[in-house]
Amino acid sequence: MHTIYYFSGTGSSLRVARQLASAMGADLVPMAEAVAQGPAPKRPAVAERQCVGLVFPVYAWGLPLVVKPCLRLLPPPDASAYVWAVMTCGDDVGRTDRELRRLLCACGWPEVEAVYSVRMPNTYVCLPGFDVDSPEVARRKREEAERRVAEVIMPALQQRRRGLTDVVPGACPWLKSHVLRPLFNRCLTNPAHFAVDKTQCNRCGACSRTCPLGAVRPDAEGYPSWERHCTHCLACYHVCRRHAVSYGPFTRGKGQVNVERENRT
Ligand SMILES: Cc1cc2nc3c(=O)[nH]c(=O)nc-3n(C[C@H](O)[C@H](O)[C@H](O)COP(=O)(O)O)c2cc1C
Repeated sequence: MHTIYYFSGTGSSLRVARQLASAMGADLVPMAEAVAQGPAPKRPAVAERQCVGLVFPVYAWGLPLVVKPCLRLLPPPDASAYVWAVMTCGDDVGRTDRELRRLLCACGWPEVEAVYSVRMPNTYVCLPGFDVDSPEVARRKREEAERRVAEVIMPALQQRRRGLTDVVPGACPWLKSHVLRPLFNRCLTNPAHFAVDKTQCNRCGACSRTCPLGAVRPDAEGYPSWERHCTHCLACYHVCRRHAVSYGPFTRGKGQVNVERENRT
């Protein structure tokens, strides 16, 4: 049995997970479901699976905040299971592959035998100098990703190849993952900094429906409000057709990606 656990904010990781699942006949399970269920008895029975895949985006050169509790909640697969991971990113992953291996090792998982990164359209827009890719670049990234998954990743996973790390760490990966990342998580991922422009918001609820964690809820007047378990995926920002959602001053005038939905399956 083959199971793929995924997390996706704006849909790129979901797209990759779907491509892999349909080719390999794997079950797709949202990691957020495991978080919602917590350590209750109805957890997915990972121990019975022969093959376990993890697909998620890279946030600030590391695991998205929500992915850690998910992985801690899943019972470790059997020692003989084949475990692999695919991380989507806009550019580079720093040392995310090492963070993943360390975390899973600490949780008693078997070795992650194959880790890949796949470049997809960038979604981070909350700092000066960061914006979405041009439509042309985004289209090219999607096409290249689809090819990489089909021609490089899938064959390796189907052959259950071991000892593979095929990621783009980028320049100064240690600095990014061990210095910039903690600063980012401490200073730049505060749900209180999300805001809605009430002159633009028509209270359609798209932001709430799109949040993969149910962390954006309508307040008493029907405007969105952000809860503490927000993982900063920015799906709420990107999905708003009226550009009414902002995060601090720097999302003003920034682009939006087309959010690919059905995150909550
Ligand atoms: C908060 C945040 C941080 C990000 N950090 C990185 C990063 O460190 N490196 C990178 O290449 N892309 C980064 N990105 C871009 C995403 O990893 C990329 O767009 C990913 O494919 C999004 O996947 P999703 O659509 O499944 O959420 C970041 C995006 C967000 C929202």
